[in-house]
Formats: sequence, C-alpha cells, structure tokens
Amino acid sequence: MTVREAIEARRSIRKYLPEPVAEEDLQQILDAGRLAPSGCNAQPWRFVVVRDAAIKEQLAAEAMTLQINASICRAAPVMIACLAVVDAHCEIPQRLAELSEAVPDFANAAPTSDGKSVLTSRFEAMPREARSAYMSLNVAIALTQMVLQATELGYGTCWLGAFDRALAQQILEIPDGLEVVAMTPLGRPAEDPPSRPRLELEALVFGDRYGDPL
Ligand SMILES: Cc1cc2nc3c(=O)[nH]c(=O)nc-3n(C[C@H](O)[C@H](O)[C@H](O)COP(=O)(O)O)c2cc1C
Repeated sequence: MTVREAIEARRSIRKYLPEPVAEEDLQQILDAGRLAPSGCNAQPWRFVVVRDAAIKEQLAAEAMTLQINASICRAAPVMIACLAVVDAHCEIPQRLAELSEAVPDFANAAPTSDGKSVLTSRFEAMPREARSAYMSLNVAIALTQMVLQATELGYGTCWLGAFDRALAQQILEIPDGLEVVAMTPLGRPAEDPPSRPRLELEALVFGDRYGDPL
C-alpha cells in the first residue's frame, strides 16, 4: 500500500472485532509515531497502551464524554493514549544537543546566549498553555503517522478527542508534566464505511495560482 493509498483508505472506525492486536504490528504502529518530525526534534510524545479490560471499562464509563466514544473504548482490543510532554524544560536542551550534532547547519542557525540555546530559553519562557498547544501539535503528527501505519497493516483507528482529560489522566495514572492529547482505539475493523464528506480543494487553497484570494 502506498502512502497515498493509506490516506485514501483510512476511516474513523467505530466498530471492532474482538481479535487481539499482534505485538509486532503494535510495535510497528508505535514506531511510526516515534519517527515523526517535531519542532526542535523535541519528540514530546509518549504513548500509553491500554489492553486491560478493566481500565478500558473505567475510561469508557468515567472519562468518555460521548456515548459513541465509550462504546468504541469497550469494543476495541487496544486503546492508545497519546501524551504530550509539557513540563518547563521539555527535555529540549538534550534534544537540541543531539540535533545540533546530527545537523550542524541547524546548530549554526540556533545561537546560544549564556551557554544556553536561544530556543531553550524561548521554550522556558512560554506560558504553560502555549507550550501545551505547541507540544500537542507535535503529538498530533505522531498520531497521524500511527493511524496511517495502522491502516497499512489492516487495522482500524479513530481519533478520540471528546473525553475528560483530568479523569483520563487520573485513570491512566499519568504524572504531572504530561498531558493526554488524544486517544485512538486499535483493532480489526468490524465495519467498512464509505469515505466521509470533504470540502473541495478549491475551497481550501488560495494564492495567485488558485483563483480567488482569501
Ligand atoms: C482531533 C480529532 C478529534 C476527534 N474526536 C472524535 C471523537 O471524540 N469521537 C469520534 O467518534 N470521532 C472523533 N474524531 C473523528 C472525526 O469525527 C472524523 O475524523 C471525521 O468525521 C472524518 O471522518 P473520517 O476520519 O472517517 O474521514 C475526531 C477527529 C479528530 C481529528
């Protein structure tokens, strides 16, 4: 399956067969997230894999704010919670040091002051909400790659955003400094829905080569 084919084949799957997910497939899906790009190569994603029926039931009963999300959570053999590292330093100095070694051009373009990368200082100065939004953006990229990898391997997924984050955090025993951005079920689909509506490209793309200005 090409990337294009995976993009076209992917659907939000809300019904699952009670079949387990093969361990090597799960590893490959998680690895597709690991390989995602991120600002400053921060790699601020962490994944919690939930297979335990009791924990899935608790998520479904207490954290999910949509009935459909609760039933997805109960039916899917695996749930993956995608977390963002949002604490003050976000491991940015280490990641920047590794990146600077791998990409000397980047190091030259990212000056230091007081022995600290300007980028590190900028992250540290960000209000928590801004850092949370920035890190969540990166986590979304990782989850997008995982969803496409799962599609190639014949698994269903569904981005889930409608849940109580504080409750999910508590149920999954996630420490401070990490935030739950989104979850996805993972399993063999028990439905094959047609593609969902999309706007036409003409309604989305602007600029001198594409007709009307914004
Ligand atoms: C950020 C985000 C949050 C979403 N949250 C939910 C959700 O809580 N429950 C759900 O059933 N679908 C959720 N979806 C799936 C969307 O409804 C779905 O992507 C959209 O309707 C298009 O359908 P498709 O994914 O099959 O193309 C979410 C999707 C995204 C990207």
